[in-house]
Amino acid sequence: MTKAIVVQPGGGFDNVIVERRPASTPQCGDIQVRLRGSSLNYHDYAVVSGMWGPTEPRIPMADGAGEVVAVGPGVTEFKAGDLVVSTFFPTWLDGEPEVDGFATTPGDGVDGFAREVVTAPARGFTHAPKGWSAVESATLTTAGLTAWRALHEEGRVKAGDTVLVQGTGGVSIFALQFAKQAGATVIATSSSERKLEKLKALGADHLINYRVTPEWGEKVRDFTDGRGVDHVIEVGGPATLAQSMIAARVHGHISVIGILTGLAGDFPLVNALLRQLQLKAVLVGSRRQQQDMIRAIDASGLKPVIDRVFPLEEIVAAFRHQESNKHFGKICLEI
Ligand SMILES: NC(=O)c1ccc[n+]([C@@H]2O[C@H](COP(=O)([O-])OP(=O)(O)OC[C@H]3O[C@@H](n4cnc5c(N)ncnc54)[C@H](OP(=O)(O)O)[C@@H]3O)[C@@H](O)[C@H]2O)c1
Repeated sequence: MTKAIVVQPGGGFDNVIVERRPASTPQCGDIQVRLRGSSLNYHDYAVVSGMWGPTEPRIPMADGAGEVVAVGPGVTEFKAGDLVVSTFFPTWLDGEPEVDGFATTPGDGVDGFAREVVTAPARGFTHAPKGWSAVESATLTTAGLTAWRALHEEGRVKAGDTVLVQGTGGVSIFALQFAKQAGATVIATSSSERKLEKLKALGADHLINYRVTPEWGEKVRDFTDGRGVDHVIEVGGPATLAQSMIAARVHGHISVIGILTGLAGDFPLVNALLRQLQLKAVLVGSRRQQQDMIRAIDASGLKPVIDRVFPLEEIVAAFRHQESNKHFGKICLEI
């Protein structure tokens, strides 16, 4: 019997229990993984806190990494001892998006990785980056791949471009790192002077405190001599989209990613039309995109920015830390 965290129907931090579950034997095409790490995302917070609580008992967490302990018949890509990392959409392997919402996403529509052992189809995992720990690797499934896809797959970022990242959560910090790696200039925002200093240390070229400067779109344009940025990593949602559209250059690319300030709001259609902006909604990515990202990480030596690691059993404390907004980069779980 192995340990698992279970969120009871409806969710809520008082509705999280520890259970013991049997580990099943890998069938054809499956691998069994001894999970060692997971990482928190806003989506996981929504499930566990009850904002989007599950309708049935659910093992939370979309991100998981650990070592393969057994492989089922027909599995050739992995062997016992390999360090693997889960994918957000276990059935979206390559090509155009083919999944609608979160019905297949671990930790939401199906059980996730807040547990010691999982047995699942091998196609729901990739190899982890060389030299990364399981905890580090677990940061990639959701936050890392979203930032990678927004910049490289959708935005086609290139050296000399300018990228705007918002706040200091997991997606934005990965976007900053990938953008710098690509030779881009980065403009970064935060509500905290202390975090702005950290962004600078990570390579951000220009900094804006969005609390001090709520109309930051024009300030972004000033940093680009009035041209506007090539890419916006839009994680704020309704309260930031209008400023992002001011910040973007003509035909600039806005990756519509986050909902930190709500689920719906006004859409400044005229600005989008006049500047012929390219708004692209991005929901994480495919397995092939994850493999591309990991190959790039292997070549570059990039490491994730981890704020704090909690033991699995302290998952609620980890989410309360996320809720406090004190974090910079990823909050992780060690399993
Ligand atoms: N579409 C996708 O595929 C996808 C994937 C992952 C995440 N997301 C979404 O992207 C958003 C960020 O996710 P995450 O996991 O990176 O979250 P997170 O780690 O919890 O990030 C939270 C941070 O966002 C910043 N923030 C909050 N309000 C802001 C605002 N009005 N303007 C700018 N920054 C603000 C804060 O940074 P400071 O403290 O520095 O101000 C805060 O620390 C969430 O809405 C999440 O649901 C979407």
